[in-house]
Amino acid sequence: MTLREMTVDDIGAVMEIERDLFPDPWTAEGFLTFLMRDDAMFLVIEENRKKKEIIAYAGALMVLDECDITNVAVRRDRQREGNGGFLLEGMFRLLSERGIRRIHLEVRSSNETALRLYERKGFIRDGLRKGYYTGPLEDAILMTKELEV
Ligand SMILES: CC(C)(COP(=O)(O)OP(=O)(O)OC[C@H]1O[C@@H](n2cnc3c(N)ncnc32)[C@H](O)[C@@H]1OP(=O)(O)O)[C@@H](O)C(=O)NCCC(=O)NCCS
Repeated sequence: MTLREMTVDDIGAVMEIERDLFPDPWTAEGFLTFLMRDDAMFLVIEENRKKKEIIAYAGALMVLDECDITNVAVRRDRQREGNGGFLLEGMFRLLSERGIRRIHLEVRSSNETALRLYERKGFIRDGLRKGYYTGPLEDAILMTKELEV
């Protein structure tokens, strides 16, 4: 299993996962735009068994020494195997190397698997945005994690 930067060639595989998992998926153009930005970090987990396959990806936007995680996704058939945890740990390490000290994210209040994963990885709940998500309408829980130097 390899953790590496997402490239333009990965967008097709990423979009398959994105469309499967999210009611309001990002578009391919959206990923492409972010891949071009110096202040973005987009990573994939690639598996090298029989053939190379993308099984998970995550993205973050950096501002000074803080960042926002914009995407976290694990292919449906590869969830609950620790891949989300592995992806986040790798991202924390690379963000830390880029000088990031604090990470923010938001998550649907009903997304218990994600909430548990983020709490296990050191995120603290520190805010609520009422009715932030649509389709279905739902609150966003805001979470923050401090990265150790
Ligand atoms: C949220 C998400 C990223 C988590 O990824 P994941 O790879 O399933 O995460 P992990 O496997 O590291 O941990 C998830 C659960 O699997 C369990 N798990 C981990 N390894 C396991 C194993 N070997 N055997 C059984 N269970 C295991 C964890 O304990 C955890 O259990 P919990 O739900 O009771 O807390 C993934 O479910 C996903 O892509 N969901 C849809 C998209 C989404 O919601 N993204 C987040 C938006 S904020």
